[in-house]
Amino acid sequence: MSGDPIPAAALPLAARAPGKCILFGEHAVVHGRPELVLAIDLPVQVGIRAAPVGRLNGDPDASTTNPYYRTALERLWPGGAPLEIRVNSRVPRAAGLGSSAAFSAAIAAGLSAARGGVARTELAERAFAIERGAQGVGSPGDTAAAVGGGYLSLNGPGGDTVFQFAEGDRSWTARRIPDPSWSWVVAYSGLPRSTADAVRAVGRRLAEPDGPSLLEEFQRVAEEGIAAVQGEDRAAVGRCLDANHALLGKVGVSHPRLEALLAAARESMVGGKLTGAGAGGSVVVLPLPGRELEAARRMARAGGLPFVVRPEPRGASLVSAPPDEQVVEPP
Ligand code: PMV
Repeated sequence: MSGDPIPAAALPLAARAPGKCILFGEHAVVHGRPELVLAIDLPVQVGIRAAPVGRLNGDPDASTTNPYYRTALERLWPGGAPLEIRVNSRVPRAAGLGSSAAFSAAIAAGLSAARGGVARTELAERAFAIERGAQGVGSPGDTAAAVGGGYLSLNGPGGDTVFQFAEGDRSWTARRIPDPSWSWVVAYSGLPRSTADAVRAVGRRLAEPDGPSLLEEFQRVAEEGIAAVQGEDRAAVGRCLDANHALLGKVGVSHPRLEALLAAARESMVGGKLTGAGAGGSVVVLPLPGRELEAARRMARAGGLPFVVRPEPRGASLVSAPPDEQVVEPP
């Protein structure tokens, strides 16, 4: 197990956590199979201060209407004084890039700091509990990335164990994978979607007679892909990204807009796939060396919102400068 704790801090404070991008194994990971997830340098930051009335981004009703916020307050701030919370995010919402996990991790870090601090392993459990409680389904992959940073494999090959999770008859072990120092390009299709709906639809598809063999295929591709990242073998990673995308198409979560983005990037990439729950959301591509801007431009021309991303090695953390200097409001 690893990672520095979140220290105790007095209000007002600010905390942040990175978004994420799943390179291999989404959906199958919900069923306990391997996944590779990468924390990316698009952060979500929350500023937390005591206030006469509790509000989230100015909304006094959010504690009933926003399930993530509500679950966070119920679990980590029971009986506490009202809080004014402001969120400043670079991660598009409902795009498959981990905005809800990053929010869950950042608010869990902030509330835990205000209540005396927390070990990082416990923070990973708290962030997962918020996301799982709000979403009703899912794996701890996204919140593990938001809390742990860098590249993490869940239930796959890897180095040191960073976190362990259990739920019912499922368990997940998150292990560290070294950073091969590559840039990735993600692009949002502009189509928001519900993770919970996609997870349930794939669950029904995997309950059909060929479900077990599909899960075996997901596992084989993810294990090969993780080993290829460990071996810094770009060509093999590209083949595994393409194979994983084909499998996600078979279980019904691709979309013509995602296919169009991947087709547009094809000449500039080694391989690519949809990332996250799919049925809309985003794609991730591994560009040919030095051609990340070209891949981004190609996907922008095809109607996507591209980001060239690098791994964010730092998981959830407190922001050290005073929050008023950090939380930038739009003009
Ligand atoms: O699209 P996102 O960011 O919500 O990612 C979902 C990943 C799934 O494997 C589909 C669900 C999960 O919780 O692991």
